[in-house]
Amino acid sequence: MARKIFVTCALPYANGSIHLGHMLEHIQADIWVRYQRLKGNEIHFVCADDTHGTPVMIKAKQLGITPEEMLKSVAAEHKADFSGFEISFDNYYSTHSPENQFFSNAIYNKLKERGYIASRKISQLFDPEKKMFLPDRFVKGTCPKCKAADQYGDNCEACGATYSPTELINPYSAISGAKPELKETEHFFFDLPQFEGVLKDWIKTGAIPDEMANKLNEWFDSGLQQWDISRDAPYFGFEIPDQPGKYFYVWLDAPIGYLGSFKNYCDRVKNVDFEDYIKKDSDCEMYHFIGKDILYFHSLFWPAMLNGAEYRMPTKLFIHGYVTVNGAKMSKSKGTFIKAATFLKHFPAETLRYYYAAKSNAKIDDLDLNLEDFIARVNSDLVNKVVNLASRTANFINRKFANKLAAQLTEDQIFSEFANANETIETAYEGREYAKAVREIMRLADIANKYVDDTAPWVLAKDPDKSEELHQVCTNALNMFRILLTYLKPIIPSLVKAGEDFLGLELTWENANKPLIAAEINQFKPLFKRIEQKQVDEMIKESKEDLAKAAPKPAVENKEEELAPQITIDDFAKIDLRVARIVKAEHVEGAEKLISLELDLGFEQRHVFAGIKSAYKPEDLVGRLTVMVANLAPRKMKFGVSEGMVCAAGPGGKDIFLLSPDSGAQPGMRIH
Ligand code: MSP
Ligand code: ZN
Repeated sequence: MARKIFVTCALPYANGSIHLGHMLEHIQADIWVRYQRLKGNEIHFVCADDTHGTPVMIKAKQLGITPEEMLKSVAAEHKADFSGFEISFDNYYSTHSPENQFFSNAIYNKLKERGYIASRKISQLFDPEKKMFLPDRFVKGTCPKCKAADQYGDNCEACGATYSPTELINPYSAISGAKPELKETEHFFFDLPQFEGVLKDWIKTGAIPDEMANKLNEWFDSGLQQWDISRDAPYFGFEIPDQPGKYFYVWLDAPIGYLGSFKNYCDRVKNVDFEDYIKKDSDCEMYHFIGKDILYFHSLFWPAMLNGAEYRMPTKLFIHGYVTVNGAKMSKSKGTFIKAATFLKHFPAETLRYYYAAKSNAKIDDLDLNLEDFIARVNSDLVNKVVNLASRTANFINRKFANKLAAQLTEDQIFSEFANANETIETAYEGREYAKAVREIMRLADIANKYVDDTAPWVLAKDPDKSEELHQVCTNALNMFRILLTYLKPIIPSLVKAGEDFLGLELTWENANKPLIAAEINQFKPLFKRIEQKQVDEMIKESKEDLAKAAPKPAVENKEEELAPQITIDDFAKIDLRVARIVKAEHVEGAEKLISLELDLGFEQRHVFAGIKSAYKPEDLVGRLTVMVANLAPRKMKFGVSEGMVCAAGPGGKDIFLLSPDSGAQPGMRIH
């Protein structure tokens, strides 16, 4: 009986590009899906852009376009990236869709009807200038624990403490710089604690890998909490039914987006029964491929919501770790934060698909993309072991035997070894132990290459009496090649497609061990080129340039500055340096290097132009303290009058470092 399976990848945020970190999940999922299709199972694979929330709203505003316009161009970019990597989604949709709104409302209404939604007033920080409540990440201030300045509202990057934004010292809005006010507002909560038993039972069915059991027990032990599922306007999202001005929090409608995308697909193709897959007692399987960072949402909120709304729960979560590059976190400045599109400009998709597969297992460990190893591995396996098997033998069939294969296979022992490997390979694919599958396939490739080495067709070809033997050896070798390609089909589909064109047939799982004999093949063309370090270098360079585009770096001389002539303390006393708070920061139209700053000195405000645009974004400056020369004579500049100067170190370009006083300093304090 064919299984019926519904599979998703996590929905990528619509405010950024797809990078090689995302690609791990999509490649792992795609390999599994392609394998299931080859096995003849009915499988539906969907994804979507995750479109709602404050970051999307703000980014669109910065770009001067509507969120909808931004979503359109991001969706086109994401789709191109995924198809470039041959991710075979049946549907790639959006959470900003009528289907998703329908299910978000339906699930919410059902949860409410069944007593799982409560509302109560809470106090939240409000930006009086922008007239909006501030998400934790959009409040900044001094850490209440270690007193580090400019920390986010949810946790401190200096000491790691977590807290609520109301605990920050001297909080300010990261959007306007204004001092936020506490304001009461009504919020809606999903009653997660009611689902503790249901979730524990669900986990017992093996829905979550054992490795994660501890993490979950910790969460249960510390007590499940009510989940705040609403946000106030302005918010880019779905308005809550009958609650004008209240919106669903993005993480409510994001996983529901799995269903929205699937429904959209079912409505289009017509022969897939949506209900059958998601009804409470469904006998279909449902899997989510996700990263370890979003486990909380997928192991608690999502299954609880489904259960509360009387839908089925996921069969299993397939969880992966993080991609590192050359042993470290992907880094923009090192050029290892590589976008999917950038990679594809320098390498065929198959190379990364193969490398990730060769290093993937069902564990949650991180996976290191070591770029040197990547080149070595792709060349030694795909080129030397697989493709060469054909290039060493195909030409003889093409040239000497009019493209026709011999009438039988010999080497029974080798072929039975190939056939027997089937079980190991299937188990490995099914269990997402792709490294094991690859290892087994490469073991067979080694056997095949040894066979060609031993029989040396290029030697046989020189002896007219050995023609029949040559024909037989090449036929055997090409059949070994054919079986290897079949086994590799889930991992490197387009390379296999080229192989199929050459062999003149479609490779199917069931025919893996059915001999291809007395058949006509096509002219062999090189299937794949060796890859080189030079390509890696260019890709890294381009990734770095990507960053430079985001913050253009003027040409600066980076030499050591000579020490200025000595001065007396009286000379120094002439300079009145003051602590100042940046209350406003804006681009200056037409100015390449300048940012216009409004500085608060406590007793008065000053307007200053600072040549720091290459190193700072205005929105990152607002609210922070710095040091200014307060008694500098006003200077008339092209764009207006500058009433002082801010102090900064560094040669220029990206390397400009604005001074800031230790926390506790107040605007107006003089620096002695
Ligand atoms: N929008 C949410 C998911 C909503 S699902 C209902 C989100 N988006 S994301 O774009 O940040 O991440 C999407 C997926 O990519 C997540 O599963 C995440 O774990 C994965 N990865 C993002 N960066 C990654 C790496 N560097 N390495 C591996 N996977 C990574 O979270
Ligand atoms: Zn701290």
